[in-house]
Amino acid sequence: MRFFLSVLLATSYALTAVLAHAPSKTQRRDTWYHDEDHPVHALFRRDPASPTASAAYPSHSPDPSNLPQAWIDALNAAMASGKIPDLPQSTMNPGRDPTYGSLDPNSPQVCSTTYQCKIDGDIWDGPNGTVGAGFDDGPLPPSTKLYSFLKQNNLHATHFMIGLNIVQYRTQFDIAVNTNEDDIAVHTWTHPYMTTLSNLQVLGELGWTMQIIHDLTGGRVPRFWRPPYGDSDVRVHAIALEVFGLTTIMWNYDTNDWALESGGTSMAAIKKSLQKWYGGSKSPGLIILEHELSDQSVEAYIDAFPLIAQNGWDVESVVRLFGGAYKNTSGADAEVGGSILVAEVGGTIGGDGSDGNAGGAGNADTAGAGGGNDSTPNVMAANASPNSPGSHTTEPTHTSGTSNAPTSPNAQKSSSAPWYGTGIVPWIMSLVGLVFAGLTF
Ligand SMILES: *[C@@H]1O[C@H](CO)[C@@H](O)[C@H](O)[C@H]1NC(C)=O
Ligand SMILES: *[C@@H]1O[C@H](CO)[C@@H](O)[C@H](O)[C@H]1NC(C)=O
Ligand SMILES: *[C@@H]1O[C@H](CO)[C@@H](O)[C@H](O)[C@H]1NC(C)=O
Repeated sequence: MRFFLSVLLATSYALTAVLAHAPSKTQRRDTWYHDEDHPVHALFRRDPASPTASAAYPSHSPDPSNLPQAWIDALNAAMASGKIPDLPQSTMNPGRDPTYGSLDPNSPQVCSTTYQCKIDGDIWDGPNGTVGAGFDDGPLPPSTKLYSFLKQNNLHATHFMIGLNIVQYRTQFDIAVNTNEDDIAVHTWTHPYMTTLSNLQVLGELGWTMQIIHDLTGGRVPRFWRPPYGDSDVRVHAIALEVFGLTTIMWNYDTNDWALESGGTSMAAIKKSLQKWYGGSKSPGLIILEHELSDQSVEAYIDAFPLIAQNGWDVESVVRLFGGAYKNTSGADAEVGGSILVAEVGGTIGGDGSDGNAGGAGNADTAGAGGGNDSTPNVMAANASPNSPGSHTTEPTHTSGTSNAPTSPNAQKSSSAPWYGTGIVPWIMSLVGLVFAGLTF
């Protein structure tokens, strides 16, 4: 008995020692979320006593006249310090790219990403030799099959998620975060052309998406976003970066897989494109626009997946390729007041979201660059069902060395339970040891 007790206690203390050194404040930079001491956290603090405790997430486009004061204060501070360019909103042209009146969209004054203008600090290319895995518009029913596939292949990906879809597809969201330990990035609340929106509307689209991700991941705040349709400009870029600390990730090739359902492209055409890109130059690395929007778009990815390894690429979740790109955003230092708390969402929200991706970015040989066709916004892929993951599974190939790093940064904090510092774990281990000791007596 004594011996058993000693062993238990020794084990418990050893675990305590080990776990006490487990990840805490010093986090890796190649994570999808900001460090806990990043000032942007102040914008998403949750306070159970707040009078806004009963507030719910927006059920459609966020109301710009009803935003948390902390976000507005941060925007105002950024504007007052000259960090947000005073650029007019672009004009929406259904079926075509937004326009800026007499302003040249490629001028430094505008620098519209829809017109391929590259704003300093935005990410378009991967590091040489790498493929950045990323998918837009989830979570959705077709995501289930994708997540199974990624998991089976020991591969992480970045999911550029739409807030309304997170509300509606919690199951898939939780799989991405908890089961796959994948990376979550912001793809706005309702998937609009961001440059057509006012500053406050931009604030709402980004802020609410960050809020729900924060709420459902135990307090994490994303570091990256991707503009719907690839539509951003210096003004939108600045609000994302200076107010919310978000870095923009664009892409350098476009599969047009969003158009599969409407017949705008075909599986064969996508395969041909992917064969070409995977078989092509290793410089720059590939950031390919792909979607978890339909069963077919997921199939298209899975079908071509073996080509990545066959061509000798390193594949990694796209945000993890840019760990070193972390920059402090001084705009986020602004003193913010107030706190907000968002109730858990119940029920279903009729979403729009989803895609119809304008040519947005893209290299020379991407089809349809700039041919903005936003078709119908309601592509919630209702036909999808959780698929058996087996049929197209390829041999587990090739993930780059870091995808499975032992320091699992995603030791997940539960969203419904309060989350505790790592200190609780060793404490519980000790307690368990003592309970066992008691039982043996
Ligand atoms: C960046 O932020 C960290 C804390 O988040 C701070 O310690 C550091 O000094 C900042 N660096 C710069 C260059 O502002
Ligand atoms: C990437 O490849 C290009 C072309 O081979 C080369 O010029 C460039 O220096 C490479 N970049 C890095 C960071 O190695
Ligand atoms: C958008 O798609 C519709 C239907 O597929 C097509 O008729 C229209 O020409 C397209 N518009 C553009 C700008 O590509």
